[in-house]
Amino acid sequence: MPIIPNLVERWALRHNKAPGIMLDLLGANAFHSAALAIDLGVFEHIGAGEKNPAELARLTGCDPEGMRRLLEFLAAAGYVQKKGANYANTSLTNHWLLKSKPGNIANFIHMWNSLLTETWPENLEYALRNGSIRIHLHDWMSLKPGRWAIFNESMAAMAAGPAEEIATRVGLSPDARRFLDIGGNHGQYSAAFCRKNPQLVATIFDVPDALEYAIATNNPQFDIRAGDIRKDDPGSGYDAVLVSNLIHYFGPEECQAIIKRAAGALAPGGMIVISDQVGSSNNRPLVDAFLHMMSLHYFIMTGSNAYAPGAIVSWLEAAGCKVVRKIKLRSAPGQMLIIGERTG
Ligand SMILES: C[S@@+](CC[C@H](N)C(=O)[O-])C[C@H]1O[C@@H](n2cnc3c(N)ncnc32)[C@H](O)[C@@H]1O
Repeated sequence: MPIIPNLVERWALRHNKAPGIMLDLLGANAFHSAALAIDLGVFEHIGAGEKNPAELARLTGCDPEGMRRLLEFLAAAGYVQKKGANYANTSLTNHWLLKSKPGNIANFIHMWNSLLTETWPENLEYALRNGSIRIHLHDWMSLKPGRWAIFNESMAAMAAGPAEEIATRVGLSPDARRFLDIGGNHGQYSAAFCRKNPQLVATIFDVPDALEYAIATNNPQFDIRAGDIRKDDPGSGYDAVLVSNLIHYFGPEECQAIIKRAAGALAPGGMIVISDQVGSSNNRPLVDAFLHMMSLHYFIMTGSNAYAPGAIVSWLEAAGCKVVRKIKLRSAPGQMLIIGERTG
């Protein structure tokens, strides 16, 4: 959280002389305020040149007094800085929240604010009391037009950094011709593999609502197929298969079955790459907190989990694959690749 307590405040929090939960209250509301500022284009306008509240109110169609108070709170929360009568972005905002900057997470923040945080108050208590989900994330997104588009765009934006790293570090053989991307959604990972291997054809396999973005890219190396990996056949004889951020959608038995189906789609000696948020402790408080938040989120919305690497390895072995490499991604802390080869 960008609010940094001073020495006295830190002492009071550390010694429990002040209620630490107030940081979370501030964080929750600062998050909503910063996300709204992203949606209104406040940071983009400021990025083009420092501005005062009245100018920003006019540019965004907002009330001047409301904008002044929003900016004061955003300044207290570390997103903007006051400079005389004007406001400038902080380096945090310039680096991470401007849509024009490579590696920005503006779409991801938009998705959490406008989609996923809404799911918690609606579904957390139900899932906790019943030990099962009230409604699956996909069905919940299908209830309102536009939700799938927000989800797909955020997934695509978040893939930009890891896609290049994954394609580089996996190092597909130059002889590979057929690639399967299960739950491939936007196809950005496939696109990165295709850029390195112009002869590759990548089959993007996903449920119909998830494929809009990949279809719109018109990538000539894409073969786009709609289906449900639990019951539909993704084809066979592939040189490599990627299962990225998919297994955290399913319970352990379904994961086992999906990995078996993915491995079965490979030619003998083919490579299977599982990429997912792994739920093991890293002794990194921020990464651990994120993984625990996601684990709770999966419990609420998909009835699943962020699994430990050992579980993934055992599913791969049971599916007739030898695990050959594990890679911790630099571009996505908490994310790991577990790479196997189909034996026989
Ligand atoms: C969290 S997204 C990840 C998208 C992409 N692979 C990535 O890593 O950015 C999970 C994807 O799995 C897809 N998915 C979930 N259940 C599926 C199923 N039963 N069959 C095929 N795809 C599924 C979702 O539609 C979604 O596109």
